[in-house]
Amino acid sequence: MRKNKTKIKRNTSLIAMAVILGLTGCGTAGGGTTDTANKDKPLVWWNRQPSDSATGELDIAAVNFNKDTYYVGFDMRQGASLQGQMVEDYLLASDLSLDRNGDGTIGYVLAIGDSGHNISAARTRGVRSALGTGIGEGDDLNAAPIKGDLNLDGNATEVKDAQVTLDGKTLIVRELASREMITDKGATWDANAAGNAIKEWSSAFGDQIDLIVSNNDGMGMAMFNAWAHANKVPVFGYDANGDCVAATRDGFCGSISQHPDVQAYLTLRVIRNCLDGVDVQTGIGIPDEAGNVLSDSDFYYKEEERAFYALNVAVTAGNYKDFLDPKAVYAPVSHQLSTKDHPERRVFLSIYNKDDDFLSQTYQPLLQQYASLLNLDVSFVGGNGHDESTILKSLDVNKFDAYAINMVKTDNAGEYTSLLK
Ligand code: BGC
Repeated sequence: MRKNKTKIKRNTSLIAMAVILGLTGCGTAGGGTTDTANKDKPLVWWNRQPSDSATGELDIAAVNFNKDTYYVGFDMRQGASLQGQMVEDYLLASDLSLDRNGDGTIGYVLAIGDSGHNISAARTRGVRSALGTGIGEGDDLNAAPIKGDLNLDGNATEVKDAQVTLDGKTLIVRELASREMITDKGATWDANAAGNAIKEWSSAFGDQIDLIVSNNDGMGMAMFNAWAHANKVPVFGYDANGDCVAATRDGFCGSISQHPDVQAYLTLRVIRNCLDGVDVQTGIGIPDEAGNVLSDSDFYYKEEERAFYALNVAVTAGNYKDFLDPKAVYAPVSHQLSTKDHPERRVFLSIYNKDDDFLSQTYQPLLQQYASLLNLDVSFVGGNGHDESTILKSLDVNKFDAYAINMVKTDNAGEYTSLLK
């Protein structure tokens, strides 16, 4: 059962929040508020885990940049398997009417965010594994989009046909098409691209599409709005963004909450603790003096990866009402810290793409509220989604006490650490 969420009152006199795309000032000019050298300042990688985009192997050096470096994200495998399970449960509970054109094949299409992002690959694997359409095992299961994106005959090499029995009749389950949703310039997880893809796919083989699965809600909603809603085709996404959760009433079938209320808190709380020179688990695994604390059902910490991982929850027609406001701070960690013991500090925080649905719609508003609770003056920099240039140009290393980085490409940690050395 989910704990109560609460809205906090913004203490505007305490902190002037700088919400910026391209950098704006963050209070007084000059250096950070402490005289710590850049190489020793707290550094949190968040949402995009330093890793090899080809193999998924973690970049352990990047999370060991200094003693105050961590990663904050969520358990991508647990979340991906929940998403797969959610789609599988829906399929198994359906009757033969799910096969819209009665051709004996349950056809689904898949919107992929970024095949080089381990989170996106995990979700593709989660769905293919649950439906039985994946080739390979575990982390080696093929997460590539179908080449040329169509598989109408079942001969694609990236996936295989599976079977399901509905109302006593055995049907084929087939991934009809999948595509990485990317802009001309190379920005990934692109909702418009997904909206265009479903228009294209539906006009080419519309009544063969019985289900839609997306690596995230932004792309899922675009497909829902462009075609699925009107055609009553079930869509499954990931993120539990507010608009998607609300659309559950209109037939959006399900999403996964990656507990952004917990992750946004962790992102800034880890920084706060490092700046205060206290145990990194303060207000996380152990209560702080204001009463903030998380529980084991919210997150876990993995020391060898220097990583805090939030846990995911499935959001479906049965429980969506509890998730209608994903921007509300999490009640167990909603207590204001005092400025006497936790003086204001300046944090540089990048978002790989200012237009990313989940990060701008859900995560950033949460960060803004927690920044106020934790007395952090956060400067937000939104990137262009396809290279690190906009963010790196804005990273004035002499202005900040700590850094929270959401990279464009997960391989690029070195571009940041070389500036901070
Ligand atoms: C979210 C996506 C988002 C991506 C950005 C993922 O965790 O589910 O919606 O586009 O993060 O890195």
